[in-house]
Amino acid sequence: MGSSVSCSWLAALLWLLCLGAEVECNCTDSNIEMAGGEYTLTKNLERGSLLVYNCPDGYYPYPTLTRVCQPSGTWRPAPKKFRPQRCKRVECPDPNVMENGNVSPPQERYFVDNETSYECYSGYLMRGSTKRICLPNGKWSGSTPICSRDSGDVCADPGVPPGASRTGNMFGIDDKVTYTCNGNLFLVGTSERKCQENGQWTGTEPACYYKHTYDTPREVSEAFGSAIKDSLTTMESLNDTQEGRKIRISKSGTLNIYIAVDISESIEEKQFQQARDAIITLIKKIASFTVSPNYEIIFFSSEIYEVVNILDFIDAKVELKKVIKDLESFEIGDRNTGTDLNLAFTKFEGRMAFIKEQAGPERFKEHRHVLIMFTDGAYNMGGSPKPTVERIKNMVYMNHTTEKQTGSRDEFLDIYVFAIGADIFDDDLHPLTVGTGGDHYFRMKDIKELRKTFDEIIDETEVVGLCGLHLDYETTEDKVSRRKRYPWLAFIINKGQKSKKCIGSLVSADFVLTAAHCFTFGDLPENIVIEIEDETGAIEKKVKNYTLHPNYNINSKVDQGVTEFYDYDVALIQLADPIKFSAKARPICIPCTQETSDALKLVGESTCKQQEQLLLKNQRERLNFLTRKSPLVAEKDVHAKLGESRNICIKKALKAPGINATDPTVAVTDNFLCTGGHNGGEHRDHIACTGDSGGAVFKNYELRTVQIGVVSWGTHQLCGSTDGLVESKAESRDFHINLFRMIPFLKSVLGDENQDYAPLKFLKS
Ligand SMILES: *[C@@H]1O[C@H](CO)[C@@H](O)[C@H](O)[C@H]1NC(C)=O
Ligand SMILES: *[C@@H]1O[C@H](CO)[C@@H](O)[C@H](O)[C@H]1NC(C)=O
Ligand SMILES: *[C@@H]1O[C@H](CO)[C@@H](O)[C@H](O)[C@H]1NC(C)=O
Ligand SMILES: *[C@@H]1O[C@H](CO)[C@@H](O)[C@H](O)[C@H]1NC(C)=O
Ligand SMILES: *[C@@H]1O[C@H](CO)[C@@H](O)[C@H](O)[C@H]1NC(C)=O
Ligand SMILES: *[C@@H]1O[C@H](CO)[C@@H](O)[C@H](O)[C@H]1NC(C)=O
Repeated sequence: MGSSVSCSWLAALLWLLCLGAEVECNCTDSNIEMAGGEYTLTKNLERGSLLVYNCPDGYYPYPTLTRVCQPSGTWRPAPKKFRPQRCKRVECPDPNVMENGNVSPPQERYFVDNETSYECYSGYLMRGSTKRICLPNGKWSGSTPICSRDSGDVCADPGVPPGASRTGNMFGIDDKVTYTCNGNLFLVGTSERKCQENGQWTGTEPACYYKHTYDTPREVSEAFGSAIKDSLTTMESLNDTQEGRKIRISKSGTLNIYIAVDISESIEEKQFQQARDAIITLIKKIASFTVSPNYEIIFFSSEIYEVVNILDFIDAKVELKKVIKDLESFEIGDRNTGTDLNLAFTKFEGRMAFIKEQAGPERFKEHRHVLIMFTDGAYNMGGSPKPTVERIKNMVYMNHTTEKQTGSRDEFLDIYVFAIGADIFDDDLHPLTVGTGGDHYFRMKDIKELRKTFDEIIDETEVVGLCGLHLDYETTEDKVSRRKRYPWLAFIINKGQKSKKCIGSLVSADFVLTAAHCFTFGDLPENIVIEIEDETGAIEKKVKNYTLHPNYNINSKVDQGVTEFYDYDVALIQLADPIKFSAKARPICIPCTQETSDALKLVGESTCKQQEQLLLKNQRERLNFLTRKSPLVAEKDVHAKLGESRNICIKKALKAPGINATDPTVAVTDNFLCTGGHNGGEHRDHIACTGDSGGAVFKNYELRTVQIGVVSWGTHQLCGSTDGLVESKAESRDFHINLFRMIPFLKSVLGDENQDYAPLKFLKS
């Protein structure tokens, strides 16, 4: 105590004498200890050190959460002997605000583990929880109890959350209710809600938080998870004028994600590292799922450290794997004391303005923006970011927020704030959140769990078996990475009478789809080996049986001048043991199944035809198939000629050896897709090689892959001994079985409900 006094006296004296000469003064540890808890120091007792108090679960530090050691060698706030630092029991907001009912027991204040029960007056109906417990994070368990009478209003009584007051008692269309929090509580969520035509209130129920109230990782995972998933897969209702029914399609727009992490001194280094790791996890998760957003990632204190420039992303100058690497290697060096939160928002505003400039106002309208800020809000430079946030809103909303005809644009901008740090400036931070739908403000006591939280946002087990899901980037150019790009890939080795190598595709846990011509009549299942590398590490899979399309008959048109007739060239191989799905092995989507409709985001009762129209809509439709090439396979680019172009394409079949007919449709029935030749300008399609037979002809739809065809036969052998990426000649064409024409066969095997394997659900029509 004595040294502290003399040191600060000395500092004050020197300051007076020498006009601010630097004096190194340490703080002292007297009176900083806390009964019932402990504290940590970021830099011992040196100046600039941050003292953070910690209490056991169910308690919070009082009267202060943190202290900073100032250059004068004194703590701010200073410890006071008459108000000793201690751990106080966590309190929950007052539940007695409920209308038309009783809360028991009635208490002035409610603490952790206190139980309450709720009852409505007679004539009123209860919604919500009838019993609630005060939880260690300062929130009540369950949901707000509401007692209401059926008044025939459009919207239901929205109730009054604990600790709040509500104004507005009319619940008809366009009626508004507003909430405030009582005492020293602050409001998180929507303070004004409006009753909509559909009977729903806008926004989400607000909650009243104390300084010691926080969100659990599970709450964050659920709330942020559902919100971000919404951004990633936002669907739009469109009227399908031809069919007269409503379909939902995915938005074509671009998603831009801007992430800022506060690395100023008030954030402990450990928290920074946890935030960084969480961001890496989040980016990887997003990458493994649906759209591919553009990223801007910055760290900030009084200046900005830009890890990823979104403009490089948009210009495709930077790859995701490099971003992840840069993030992983980013270290905070010497940190300065200033925090300029506005600078971070200004940076984002600048980037957005540039994107708008580049894209033009029309295309900018298709851009959605998600800002994610990690900070404690303790800015001491640059002023409030609020005006910047308003300008960002204006830029994205394009002055259309309220205009009915143009539609609301508020779904195009979300600002999430993850409030981290020991002492959070809620009053400054909460107003910076923007967006409709779920919560946008997360108050986290501990971000240790944040990485796991993000990991759980998109739960692998939920998606692992989804057809066609694949990684669309490779972290390294190796077998495993490539496998995750084509997790449905199967190699078929037939060691039967004629040794043959084909490619196939996993279409369910039990079946591999390939070409019928990979088999010779009488081949035994035990002579066939399927290679699929799954999580077990084993590659070779045994075959239980195989089934060729019943109409497949290679010799059936010899008398019509077709030596080898490949119509119905499809076969299904049943594996002896089902594949255990993982990121390395999961099925491809095939036409006319419910799962494929889901992958294509067709909602409601969809049809085969809708799928076909979505996947094969152009005269020249780009498709792909695989060929064996180190490190595993390579992708061939082709264009299916459809509509008018198809007739010209299939004519080339007459040039094929073994064909002696004048009408190409004798050999190439309607069941074939035609690819190859020149594709317009300089580019040519690739041509199939012998070993590509049976492989999937596929199309990617966002991160899902749908198989359209099966590689069957071609007019020319251009590959020679070394198979690989060979370009087509002007005359050469390939023909692939169109799976949309094979549905009865696929359904008879894969959709059979009377077997010991799980059937696929096919559409009714
Ligand atoms: C402050 O403490 C550090 C060790 O934590 C010590 O090296 C330094 O000399 C001290 N400064 C003063 C002015 O006491
Ligand atoms: C509520 O919690 C406080 C603090 O733990 C305790 O003293 C009190 O007895 C509890 N009241 C009830 C009704 O459980
Ligand atoms: C779709 O059609 C319905 C009825 O025909 C109409 O009320 C609705 O406004 C249309 N929606 C769109 C997005 O065009
Ligand atoms: C929005 O309104 C402001 C002022 O009213 C105007 O200057 C600006 O050009 C408008 N922006 C758009 C995109 O219409
Ligand atoms: C294999 O499948 C064929 C029909 O494709 C069937 O006739 C035969 O009995 C099956 N063999 C076994 C062992 O299940
Ligand atoms: C081709 O067709 C013509 C007329 O049908 C016939 O004379 C000729 O023998 C056929 N050649 C072959 C190789 O089948």
